[in-house]
Amino acid sequence: MKRTIVKGRVLVSSALLALAAAGAVIAAGDVDLDHAQTDVSNIAALQRGAKLFVNYCQGCHGSQYMRYSRLGEDLGLTEEQIEENLIFNDAKVGDVILSAMDGADQQVWLGAQAPDLSVVARSRGVDWLYTYLRQFYIDPSRPIGWNNKAYPNANMPNVFWEMQGVRKAVYETHEKEDGAEEKVLVGFEQVTEGTMTEEEFDQTMLDLVSYLEYLGEPAKLQRESLGIWVLLYLALFTFVAYLLKKEFWKDVK
Ligand code: HEC
Repeated sequence: MKRTIVKGRVLVSSALLALAAAGAVIAAGDVDLDHAQTDVSNIAALQRGAKLFVNYCQGCHGSQYMRYSRLGEDLGLTEEQIEENLIFNDAKVGDVILSAMDGADQQVWLGAQAPDLSVVARSRGVDWLYTYLRQFYIDPSRPIGWNNKAYPNANMPNVFWEMQGVRKAVYETHEKEDGAEEKVLVGFEQVTEGTMTEEEFDQTMLDLVSYLEYLGEPAKLQRESLGIWVLLYLALFTFVAYLLKKEFWKDVK
């Protein structure tokens, strides 16, 4: 009887270990991710991110779970502000945010369909997004002329090439264990200057990634503000309970 219990435990812990290992592999892949210091409670950053999204992403990607009206409410924008700043097609304020290009056209022009980005921050993680958006480089061997270090051979062009400037990859030749040589992408070289400095561009991408994080879980905004009230309530309740206890026990010797 005892043996089986021990065995069961070993089985469970090795299953957990295997899971953890699998998780680590999926999370790390073979890209070094830069840490994205996002802040979904920063409404100004989310507003800038939303504007970037509709200007630079919506041409190909939609976010089918988000309505303009909800966005306006969450980001403190009036209906007029939404129409002026965020709607560039014939959509109405109550509509969900859809891409301009349909999937079949994308397949033809880009060689892949641009996925809906509603929950991409949850599937890929914010660090991956932040790294991906900053690691495009020109690559004449690719049909669309662009490649990406974090997502090799992705069929997405660098939509921020003007801000970031055009960059090309720098390779080093490494010797593998079996003696064969391999070219490893180690960094980038600026080909043309961007309109932004590197710090400005990183900050801009952080706004966009914060917006994508909000998009993946809009309830986070409410939850975070609700959390403060829950904590205050608990503190107050503890204090009242303490006074009550003192009152009840004061005559008991
Ligand atoms: C010209 C069209 C186009 C534009 C504009 C565009 N993308 Fe893409 N994007 C694509 C395509 C096509 C893919 C699929 C690439 C593949 O799988 O090869 C993609 C893939 C992605 C992915 C990877 C999704 C995944 O999980 O595999 C992310 C993230 C992404 N895009 C974000 C963005 C963001 C953010 C913007 C705006 C700044 C943007 N894209 C603008 C076409 C576009």
